Amino acid sequence: MTDTSPSPVQSVPDHPTVLAAMRLAGRAPSVHNTQPWRWVFDGVGLHLYRDDDRLLTSTDPLGRQLVISCGAMLHHVRTAFAAKGWHTDTTRLPDPDRSDYLAVIEFRPWPEPPVGVRARASAIDRRRTDRLPLHAPTGLSQLLHTGRMLVTPHDLVLDLLDESARPKLATASEHAAAVRRYDLEYQTELHWWTGHSGDPEGIPREALVSDAEFARVGVGRIFPSAPHSARRGTLEDHACLLVLSSQRDSVTAWLHTGEALSALLLECTAAGFATCALTHITEMPSSRKLIAGMLPHPGIPQVVIRVGSVPDDELEAAPTPRRPLVDILTTRYE
Ligand SMILES: Cc1cc2nc3c(=O)[nH]c(=O)nc-3n(C[C@H](O)[C@H](O)[C@H](O)COP(=O)(O)O)c2cc1C
Repeated sequence: MTDTSPSPVQSVPDHPTVLAAMRLAGRAPSVHNTQPWRWVFDGVGLHLYRDDDRLLTSTDPLGRQLVISCGAMLHHVRTAFAAKGWHTDTTRLPDPDRSDYLAVIEFRPWPEPPVGVRARASAIDRRRTDRLPLHAPTGLSQLLHTGRMLVTPHDLVLDLLDESARPKLATASEHAAAVRRYDLEYQTELHWWTGHSGDPEGIPREALVSDAEFARVGVGRIFPSAPHSARRGTLEDHACLLVLSSQRDSVTAWLHTGEALSALLLECTAAGFATCALTHITEMPSSRKLIAGMLPHPGIPQVVIRVGSVPDDELEAAPTPRRPLVDILTTRYE
């Protein structure tokens, strides 16, 4: 007798799909490109763990930015699987007894994901952190509208700071740099993670800016400077400054912040804008308070994001490196 019943719908992506999606999602941004995540695929679900060996103990003692980074990768993973036809259901902090276990994802087929999701997935490979001066973005109101739709489900609020905020943030940046100039632990950590080339982690020299370039931005984090150059030489920074703020300062809120940040950065890239996340000014209580005072509502500033446009004739910057997939993903089929 012939079995005419429909074949069961496969409810888990196959191995090559898992590898391809995870390789793409590994392009997620992270603080100092630390990539502080570990993933386990057990044949049914995909489990996300924080990797505290990659915690920046001086810069980020509470692990806030570590968790935000993990949240950014979580969103990249969900977006990459969506583009491959897989809807993901996420449980955040699934085991209250394991603080390193941040999320588990389960799968359902999703033959036609929305156009916006696919556009954000195809932006993953093109997104870069751009620390050079930027032109003011055009079409900002549409971007803000879409950005708010993307971050609201994460209980985050997105605000645009007005022009009067820039000099205040520049002063706060200078203050943060002055406080840390002689902080040996901070400086050792910064130099460990940044300014080297050829490593699979950290921020390579090529992604950093020279002193002259930095001076035309003013609101950036001070990294070891790149050799003298004057890229975008005539341009002063006119990037707009967006703030992502949360209602709480909890691990769950940080995870959602990373997810919202990822959605926003990918949406900006898809719309043709360049971006740079900034957290040096949300690390210090005084500058955090300053930013909170600029918001038209109560909230805890988590990340400031510069958004602008790159001159038309410019070539795409090289991508920053990533750790090999075997270092971040373990597959265990039962
Ligand atoms: C939580 C978080 C904090 C970050 N803070 C800063 C920052 O203060 N300044 C900066 O220039 N980049 C910052 N970045 C960007 C990272 O340095 C960048 O994502 C990483 O080096 C990888 O490079 P890519 O974004 O070009 O792929 C941050 C990213 C994240 C996710």
